[in-house]
Amino acid sequence: MTHVETTLPLTPEFAPRAWRPIAEASLDGNFAEVAWADGLRLRCFSLWLYENTVGVEPLSREAMIDPSDLPPADHLRAAVVDGDGALVVTWADGETSTVHPGWLRHVAEGRHTPGALLPPLRTWTAADVDGVPPTVDGTNVLDDPEVLREWLWLLCEYGMARLVDAPATETFMAELAARIGPIRGSNFGGVFDVRSMLEPDSTANTGLNLGQHSDLPTRETPPGFQFLHCVANEVAGGWSRLTDGHAVAAEMRRVDPDAFEALTTLEWTFNNRSSIADHRWTGPFLDGPIATGSDLDRRPLTVRAFYPVRGFPAMPEHQIERGYEAMRAWSELAHDPRFQIRFPFAPGTLIGFDNRRVLHGRDAFEPSAGLRWLRGCYIDQDDVYSTLRLMRWSEGAADA
Ligand SMILES: [Fe+2]
Repeated sequence: MTHVETTLPLTPEFAPRAWRPIAEASLDGNFAEVAWADGLRLRCFSLWLYENTVGVEPLSREAMIDPSDLPPADHLRAAVVDGDGALVVTWADGETSTVHPGWLRHVAEGRHTPGALLPPLRTWTAADVDGVPPTVDGTNVLDDPEVLREWLWLLCEYGMARLVDAPATETFMAELAARIGPIRGSNFGGVFDVRSMLEPDSTANTGLNLGQHSDLPTRETPPGFQFLHCVANEVAGGWSRLTDGHAVAAEMRRVDPDAFEALTTLEWTFNNRSSIADHRWTGPFLDGPIATGSDLDRRPLTVRAFYPVRGFPAMPEHQIERGYEAMRAWSELAHDPRFQIRFPFAPGTLIGFDNRRVLHGRDAFEPSAGLRWLRGCYIDQDDVYSTLRLMRWSEGAADA
């Protein structure tokens, strides 16, 4: 069946939808029930259909009816299939609306959810990834959208992915970020530098070992993804380390459920130490759903693991020792070679990771040995996911 573009019913979105003719439609109380020939069914509440047909503003495709202006739920009076396989509903005032069956089909298949069009979340240990991040040749990443898509896919699947042999220029980090989404700025700036300084403004800018941590738990919502690009490296040591917070959380829940419970319930107040900013937040060490092997629909885990800015226990006095012991148990697991991977930075290496889920750290190095210069930035999860979903539209995935 072919359709002329101008005759298609308006959908409340801009994603392309294939025409998926409905086989049957019926009214069941205040629901329209539709079925396709393969047996898939969808029940549509009357006012949801009203919002997404009568209520759609054609230019923005947004639903424009305030809930107080909606008709009664029994406004829906009939539901039938037209000759092209579209749903046609009749309202109490005699008006009719035609509903795109491909749009209904994508709802029936669950392709409207946040997790749709993204890879299933994959929890990993060191053995699962052979001790190294999933890696893509970054030589052409600025010019070849397929390379960028492949790398972003791995980034969203594992919560980490590496580019190697990318340009080792000072501007590369910003050029790559411009292809992904808006940079989430912080008190370190937009694109920030990580290099040893004589008067460091952060432990990042020393040659000291950095334990496994997540950046900026001082914020209500810490940054989503973090990217670190190596412009120059003349020193031995200073290897990067990553640990999957989901894997450690699952292991802790299994072997030490009391410590796990302490991490998810006892709160701490974090504050940055700066003369020009005063960020603070109070929350548990582990916040959000822990992966159990199922797709979490991209609801984020937040690990608030950064001891340099963990300021104060925010819990009853009798729980404080328990809180510290739980963090000790967590940190031992986070540094266990079963869970932690290590890899060097060469000029042109870029690592991306989910800052709220995947802990990162760094081996010590000797700053006087030479220049070690990384450039980094944060981009929130919303923007990385949005870019990847749009790439999948262009592959036809929105329309599958
Ligand atoms: Fe960090």
